[in-house]
Amino acid sequence: MRHPVVMGNWKLNGSKEMVSGLIKGLDAALNGVEGVDVAIAPPVMFLDLAQQLLSKADSKIILGAQNVDLHNSGAFTGDISPEMLKEFGASHIIIGHSERREYHHESDAFVAEKFAFLKENGLTPVLCIGESEAQNEAGETVAVCARQLDAVINTQGVEALNGAIIAYEPIWAIGTGKAATADDAQRIHAAIRAHIAAKSEDVAKNVVIQYGGSVKPENAAAYFAQPDIDGALVGGAALDAESFAAIAKAAA
Ligand code: G3H
Repeated sequence: MRHPVVMGNWKLNGSKEMVSGLIKGLDAALNGVEGVDVAIAPPVMFLDLAQQLLSKADSKIILGAQNVDLHNSGAFTGDISPEMLKEFGASHIIIGHSERREYHHESDAFVAEKFAFLKENGLTPVLCIGESEAQNEAGETVAVCARQLDAVINTQGVEALNGAIIAYEPIWAIGTGKAATADDAQRIHAAIRAHIAAKSEDVAKNVVIQYGGSVKPENAAAYFAQPDIDGALVGGAALDAESFAAIAKAAA
């Protein structure tokens, strides 16, 4: 039985004050909520503070991060290693987000290497996949998602997806308020799961596939009612404790 995971990707937002307020608000709002794993990925600058606050509150909120490098140490200016992320309590690491694919020119192969390195270091990859608006209009959605997934499957075997999280995020829905309908998202999630099932039914059955792209308290429940949608990767709405907690509760 798959367990839903709702993760907040804070992107390049926050200050010490904001992190403090948001974590305290979230922890209080989620008190007693069962049946969903809730994770947050603040900017790495704030992992230390977040870890301290979560541990002081004895919180069940899982800590994550938005990126990782391919090395654990060395001359790699500006990079952050899995070891460092682990030291600050981050376990769920977002890779392949469309913003990194676009602004940092990260290829499918590079993202797949990050996937392997996270697993090697005992961390949980949250692998983002998804199509652009043009690809969507050209009917290429499933092919694009399959290609992005195959970069991992063809190099590491389908079993590499065990324990990992896939986040299907149509790029045109990110931060636009133009969310995919729950039916459309379900159709793509089912196709992604079928693609994996062609290699292993077992892996497909167990892998968590989140939806991401303009998820709000108002539309969250409709996604989570779908059989192949196992939670969400939330951007904008994750910056407000009340909204994010409402989304998480809808998945519980
Ligand atoms: O990682 C999160 C996604 O990019 C979704 O962002 O909820 O602001 O559309 P959004």
